[in-house]
Amino acid sequence: MKKTLVTMAIVGLASTSAFAANTAACVGCHGANFEKAALGKSKIVKDMTKENIVAALKGYKDGSYGGAMKGVMKGQVAALSDADMDAIATQITAK
Ligand code: HEC
Repeated sequence: MKKTLVTMAIVGLASTSAFAANTAACVGCHGANFEKAALGKSKIVKDMTKENIVAALKGYKDGSYGGAMKGVMKGQVAALSDADMDAIATQITAK
């Protein structure tokens, strides 16, 4: 019962502010505007095209993309749907 309530709370949060909830998890490594090289390793994501960001996120999820630290990103995108990734890429490139 307790677990169900927590799950419902998370789902409710995600549906009202999906983008805020998703990118809040990214800023610690990538910077508030994706202007940093995460952990000194990643590309500057804000300089990537939307298509490249979506391709990278999908690739991390299915294991077809990434460098030495791709394991870090696989954990970040595991719970994201294609629509979530598209929305995130749109937001990053809109800035
Ligand atoms: C724990 C630190 C960390 C967090 C949190 C994190 N990233 Fe990353 N990200 C990295 C690292 C390190 C890489 C480079 C991985 C590799 O070797 O391919 C990377 C790579 C990327 C890339 C591809 C850039 C490239 O170098 O090709 C994108 C796009 C990206 N991250 C988006 C995100 C998004 C969106 C989130 C939040 C949902 C996120 N990241 C959260 C550390 C992080």
